[in-house]
Amino acid sequence: MDIFEVMGTCRAIRQLKPDPVPPELIDRLLWAATRAPSPGNSQGWDFVVVDDADARARIGAAVREAMVERVAAMPRPDRTTRLMLDGTGRLVATLDQAPVLIFVTGGVVYPPQAPKEAFTWSALYPAAQSIILAARALGLGSVFTTLHHVADATIREVLGIPDHIRIAATIPIGWPDGVQFGPVNRRPVADFVHHNHWEGDKRGSGA
Ligand SMILES: Cc1cc2nc3c(=O)[nH]c(=O)nc-3n(C[C@H](O)[C@H](O)[C@H](O)COP(=O)(O)O)c2cc1C
Repeated sequence: MDIFEVMGTCRAIRQLKPDPVPPELIDRLLWAATRAPSPGNSQGWDFVVVDDADARARIGAAVREAMVERVAAMPRPDRTTRLMLDGTGRLVATLDQAPVLIFVTGGVVYPPQAPKEAFTWSALYPAAQSIILAARALGLGSVFTTLHHVADATIREVLGIPDHIRIAATIPIGWPDGVQFGPVNRRPVADFVHHNHWEGDKRGSGA
């Protein structure tokens, strides 16, 4: 699949079938992740791939407990927000059913003489996005989440992730269940692009 088609149709897929994903496809996602750029090519990432049912159940329960009521109570002022929050509600209620969870993690390692936190995130986010784009290319659903924030202690305990390792993304992976890839809902390019100099707030200029 053409990379521009992948990017243009890479919707967040929050409903996943529990069916297993062949390990060789997960390997391809990890290959993509580890091809990402990083500051000074530091590659300061570690990917914790979780398909163990007990681990997923414990993590899923912690996320469910922390999030289900909170998401249900969030205001839904427009259709886009409603669809997103409804999807998020289903995701947090059923996270343990996703056949694979990938945690994108890394230490504060760059530059070696004086490591800075910001460089950690700047390495981990491109790697996470590469997983998501590769998943789309393979027809696998995924969504970038920060759900680890609400279940940090449980996730670290279940997976043995040390405290000094940052967790940047929790990415459920599986086959889409009743939802489809399709054009992502984004503003026109012209809303964000400045030619040669800052042109002020351009929101609305390209509609
Ligand atoms: C840094 C980051 C954090 C996100 N965290 C969550 C999350 O915790 N839960 C969730 O359901 N979606 C999360 N998302 C997904 C976004 O909500 C989603 O990409 C956005 O609404 C656009 O939807 P689309 O990707 O389907 O076009 C996150 C995305 C990013 C980039």
